Amino acid sequence: MKRCSEALDFREKVSMVTGGASGIGLGIVRALTEAGAAVMMVDVDRVRARRERDSLKEAGFEVEFSGADVRKEKDCQKAVAESAEKYGRLDILVNWAGVMVRKEILKMSEKKRMGSGARCKS
Ligand SMILES: NC(=O)c1ccc[n+]([C@@H]2O[C@H](COP(=O)([O-])OP(=O)(O)OC[C@H]3O[C@@H](n4cnc5c(N)ncnc54)[C@H](O)[C@@H]3O)[C@@H](O)[C@H]2O)c1
Repeated sequence: MKRCSEALDFREKVSMVTGGASGIGLGIVRALTEAGAAVMMVDVDRVRARRERDSLKEAGFEVEFSGADVRKEKDCQKAVAESAEKYGRLDILVNWAGVMVRKEILKMSEKKRMGSGARCKS
């Protein structure tokens, strides 16, 4: 199987990945950097995002991060502004921030339910 970096050429492209500090989002960040894109990693977990950004930079990739909670419009605007200031453009947006809650919905508090994206449809 071909790696992304062999199949895609994203040199000169600027991307933004929300939820990019962990899991699938981080995998997408890695794939995009390997394909040559600059990546603005956006995540609410600033500690993890900074660590992953530093490790990718050490490996020679072009990555920055913006600490943002994508539920907040102002944070999203700040992330886009930081990306525009750093890279001057945005070609690719991967909106992957999310949470996965493994719990019966009736055992979750309303606050937890509303924060997790889980909804009762009845
Ligand atoms: N892992 C799977 O097998 C799988 C499969 C299908 C769908 N998903 C969905 O994909 C999404 C990510 O899953 P994952 O396994 O990569 O999770 P993960 O927890 O490893 O990564 C999620 C990232 O999103 C960030 N994040 C969460 N809420 C945020 C917010 N409000 N603002 C900014 N960043 C935020 C977290 O800090 C974390 O870095 C989830 O919505 C999950 O339900 C996951």
